[in-house]
Amino acid sequence: MSIKFLDLAAQNREIAQRAARELEALHAATSYVGGPALAAFEREFAAYLGVKYVVGVGSGSDALRLALLALGIGPGDGVITVPMTFIATAAAIVQAGAVPEFVDVDPSTCNLSPDHLCRYLEAGRFRSPNGPRAVIPVDLYGLPCAMDQVAAIAHQYKLLVVEDACQAHGARLSVGGRWVRAGTLADAGCFSFYPAKNLGCWGQGGALATNDERLAAVAARLADHGRTSHYGHEAYGYNARLDTLQAAVLRAKLEHLEDWNRRRRAIAARYRELLNGCGALLPEEPAGLESCYHLFTIRSARRDAIRAALNAAAIGNGIHYPLPLHLQPACAALGYRPGDFPASERIAETTLSLPMHPHLTDDEVATVAAVVRGAL
Ligand SMILES: Cc1ncc(COP(=O)(O)O)c(C=O)c1O
Repeated sequence: MSIKFLDLAAQNREIAQRAARELEALHAATSYVGGPALAAFEREFAAYLGVKYVVGVGSGSDALRLALLALGIGPGDGVITVPMTFIATAAAIVQAGAVPEFVDVDPSTCNLSPDHLCRYLEAGRFRSPNGPRAVIPVDLYGLPCAMDQVAAIAHQYKLLVVEDACQAHGARLSVGGRWVRAGTLADAGCFSFYPAKNLGCWGQGGALATNDERLAAVAARLADHGRTSHYGHEAYGYNARLDTLQAAVLRAKLEHLEDWNRRRRAIAARYRELLNGCGALLPEEPAGLESCYHLFTIRSARRDAIRAALNAAAIGNGIHYPLPLHLQPACAALGYRPGDFPASERIAETTLSLPMHPHLTDDEVATVAAVVRGAL
């Protein structure tokens, strides 16, 4: 019996009827770009997140790049982020014309360390001519970054904040006694709807969430050829709109997101019970942060042995990510060296993602845990 890392076919079965109705309506209206389905999804996702505006865009990468551009980040500016993330976070900074400045993560959360951020800003030895103008915290694996602490530091140093919530649809954090969704406390929160995400479409998609009307309008224009009217263009924009077909699929999936995330959290709790004391480090969920468990990652110096045992038992698994960005060839020109970010490097060497999706059965979870234990 093989155990899938991710089961998109099971998701599709749950949404089949609603998705069919959505697609039928789309074909009847032949409104394939823009149109009511896209507007409805933007409204519904904004309501779900609790923000005023959602702008659908072509991908999470587009969301990050357009957020920076719409906030006026450009050549000479520094943008602080972490090396323990997917390459798109840094690519967006470079593609906006700015310079990535890395700060290490907190090894307990794998997210941007507020302490390291403070120390970096205090030291004042910046890599960009203008110094940092923005920070991109990443909600890695679905655990929200400590956004209240990041926001306080950003305020002190006059930094804009763009939250990379591409892995954190529906995750929550408690701020001043109130639970709010990841991606809603920054100037802009960026989401990816890549198929494997907790809220994923049938191709590429993304969104930018904000409470800033001007930012939403500028980002929407940039995503649509800089348009002010059909053939009126105030700027050179991009063709980076969220595809209407994807918006229709996302409307169908959004209805299930809360249930699916609840099941992910139950699976995570079960993994915790079954793996307690096994010798591997289990993902932490500090008080006030509620992960949506995009991934369930454990850490162990014996990662490769566990992986071999999982592979031998036909159990899907993954490494997110095997090399931190500062050591990637794409980032070589930034001039970082091995040893610059020890926490990120250690996570890359030891991290292992176990199967995690809402349709995983309790028996499958028990089998995965038994194989992990056996390997240790
Ligand atoms: C942390 C993070 N940032 C950005 C992205 C980019 O999103 P997309 O693939 O939709 O461009 C991803 C997607 O995997 C991601 O995980």
